[in-house]
Amino acid sequence: MMPVVKGISLEIPRRGIVGLVGESGCGKSMTAKSINHILPSFAKVTGGNMLWHEDSGEVCDFTLLNEKEIRGRCGTDVAMIFQEPMTSLNPMMCIGDQIKEVLQIHKLEKNADRAKERVIEMLDAVGIAEPELRYKAWPHELSGGMRQRVMIAMAMIGSPKLLIADEPTTALDVTTEAQILKLIRKMCDEYKMSAMVITHNMGVVSTLCDYVYVMYLGNIMEQAPTKELFKNPMHPYTKGLLSSIPRIGNNPEYLETIPGSIPVMKKQFKGCEFCLRCSDDIQKCFFEKAELKKVGPDHYVRCHVAGGEEE
Ligand SMILES: Nc1ncnc2c1ncn2[C@@H]1O[C@H](COP(=O)(O)OP(=O)(O)OP(=O)(O)O)[C@@H](O)[C@H]1O
Ligand SMILES: [Mg+2]
Repeated sequence: MMPVVKGISLEIPRRGIVGLVGESGCGKSMTAKSINHILPSFAKVTGGNMLWHEDSGEVCDFTLLNEKEIRGRCGTDVAMIFQEPMTSLNPMMCIGDQIKEVLQIHKLEKNADRAKERVIEMLDAVGIAEPELRYKAWPHELSGGMRQRVMIAMAMIGSPKLLIADEPTTALDVTTEAQILKLIRKMCDEYKMSAMVITHNMGVVSTLCDYVYVMYLGNIMEQAPTKELFKNPMHPYTKGLLSSIPRIGNNPEYLETIPGSIPVMKKQFKGCEFCLRCSDDIQKCFFEKAELKKVGPDHYVRCHVAGGEEE
């Protein structure tokens, strides 16, 4: 068995929005799916804890929950939205009834008329015009942006404490993306909710997140408050990600890229996973993994070179 996510440690504070960023295949979705036990059948969590701090002060380890217990928490404690809403929505059911199902499954509203009213209120809250009419719309009748709003409504109707948004805007144009990001922020504020936003887009991170974790090949390479990470990136991988963002006013003929491509790991590698693409050519990096070291307030980096050589 090959580990695809290794020893990562994430903290999502109450009402905070945390970003998980990294190139395709680095393990962002696997990390998220492990939280509410929706990993594909060939993958499993083999160790570690996922600690959920209840309002009562008790702590619940999500890794120990059985199928029924975790289903009971999905929608009311943790809700998830995905990149392509068409694959998550049922094409055979009108959108209103799909959202209403969440209220019925979790027995959040027994009165059928009131449940419908609540769905219409939620459709209105996520910016769907004429929500009474749209209640009966089929998913294919809506634009991509509207479908994503429906997904957000479905996620929010159970008043979850944590929203996991896995690439929620990748399939959208930039204007719709900006509207959806604004909506996620508004929902987090209004519903006093925390969020984990998964993306490979640094623009999304800068607009939405308070704190960022940068992932590469299943490891956290750097973590810092968003402003600090953008101002003072330390890891060569983070620097590469940030310098490959196109900016108006920069030389338009030349865009920085990170050299090489993500290696396919057939077996566990002793050294730093990024060393094959790194400009710092240090022998130690090939043989020894660096520990996450503190380089500033709430700023950590996993690199032998960045932030000074380790003792
Ligand atoms: N269906 C699958 N079959 C085999 N391996 C898989 C599958 N899905 C994920 N993996 C493995 O898990 C690793 C992490 O995948 P994951 O989907 O978490 O990446 P990601 O960071 O979410 O990428 P993306 O940005 O493309 O969504 C992959 O590199 C791959 O090795
Ligand atoms: Mg993914």
